[in-house]
Amino acid sequence: MFVSEALSVNDRGHLVIGGCDCVKLAEEYGTPLYIMDEELIRKNCRAFRKGIEKYYDGNGLVLYASKAFSSLAACRIAEQEGLGLDVVSGGEVYTALKAGFPVDRIYFHGNNKSREELVMALDNSIGRIVVDSYEELFNLDGIAGSKNKCADVLFRIKPGIDAHTHDFIKTGQIDSKFGFALETGEAFDVIRRASKMDNINVVGLHCHIGSQIFDIEPFVEAVKVMLNFISELKEKLGLEIKELNLGGGFGIKYIPAHDPIEYEKYLEAVAETVKATAKEKNLYLPKILIEPGRSIVGPAGITLYAVGSVKDIPGIRKYITIDGGMTDNPRYILYEAVYDAVIANRADAPRTEKVTIAGKCCESGDLIAKDIDMPEIKAGDILAVLATGAYNYSMSSNYNRIPRPSVVLVKEGKSRLIVARESYDDLVRNDIIPEDI
Ligand code: LLP
Repeated sequence: MFVSEALSVNDRGHLVIGGCDCVKLAEEYGTPLYIMDEELIRKNCRAFRKGIEKYYDGNGLVLYASKAFSSLAACRIAEQEGLGLDVVSGGEVYTALKAGFPVDRIYFHGNNKSREELVMALDNSIGRIVVDSYEELFNLDGIAGSKNKCADVLFRIKPGIDAHTHDFIKTGQIDSKFGFALETGEAFDVIRRASKMDNINVVGLHCHIGSQIFDIEPFVEAVKVMLNFISELKEKLGLEIKELNLGGGFGIKYIPAHDPIEYEKYLEAVAETVKATAKEKNLYLPKILIEPGRSIVGPAGITLYAVGSVKDIPGIRKYITIDGGMTDNPRYILYEAVYDAVIANRADAPRTEKVTIAGKCCESGDLIAKDIDMPEIKAGDILAVLATGAYNYSMSSNYNRIPRPSVVLVKEGKSRLIVARESYDDLVRNDIIPEDI
């Protein structure tokens, strides 16, 4: 009935997540409110892990892409589920360290890591650094040398695959700011140079073809391209690639029309292709890594809002305004992303009209869902926007000086705060009035 299996309706007609009544959660914690279902996050972690066990003899590691939702509790859950972590900034490294995440299972990405971030990674013995540019490689070699260390690295490669997704979230093609291109020979060149460096240990290759992908084929193609390259490196440089990281990007159901593939199925296809191609080319069977972010936390999250004004513009559009918007969910304004929504206090009401859900920011594009079928909505209703667990809190902002909502984790009828709501004081915490103004 709902796009997420985490949801149901109780006998009062209220939306339920993790055994908790959403109307009560809204009363207790206030709105807007992010809610995450713990069981579903864990279930998703296990589905990916199981895929690697079943189809690749467990010779791999699932890294949770923490950019989807980075917080101490999220890192803790990923750690407990035996996952590794994909981090992309000093801030995400710091969060992982604060959560006590095992450093050897942390992979540090990013297309422009600063010197400070590289120092932080080496000082904390972060497991792998995924090198994205020549400058980074030279910097890293120098910094590692000055510390008498050798950095274990992967190289981010652009496999030249066109994944059918939004332009802004597709990354595997040559015209991308991420990684090294194969076609131009730069990927080969950078690895040839790295293989001669004293303080760099070339462990593996990485690629990430994009996000919210619904096909298996681009992943299979990426594997083939990467294994061809691994074979070339072996032949020409005598280099054995031990880790193949295939990134994330597994699509989730935001609206009923979306039809995601079971997570295990990706792993089956990928593992079979790696095994067959490695055999054909007589290659060492690399350890496989994947980096799901959205698919782990996305379906597990919802956002609750209080409905404020309702403006019906005859013959044009009916706007329903909520007490949040692009500050807690910028995905419509960035990508025209689609969402489904439910009235949490009348969750089984039939959908009888088309409305547009708008936020409270001073931007006409501040929408959450345009022209969606909903039951009649009134001021005071609690609106639940579904599948908001990924790239909502993590991309939130304080535009219009709006404090970020809190995040609550629910399980078996219990709710626990995992991120506190920002206060107005938080908003001015870093402001300074210089003495001379
Ligand atoms: N690995 C790498 C290297 C990535 O760049 C990403 C996402 C992932 C893994 C995780 O991808 P996922 O499984 O979550 O699709 N803000 C956009 C998504 C940007 C994704 C960036 N990289 C959105 O809201 O759709």
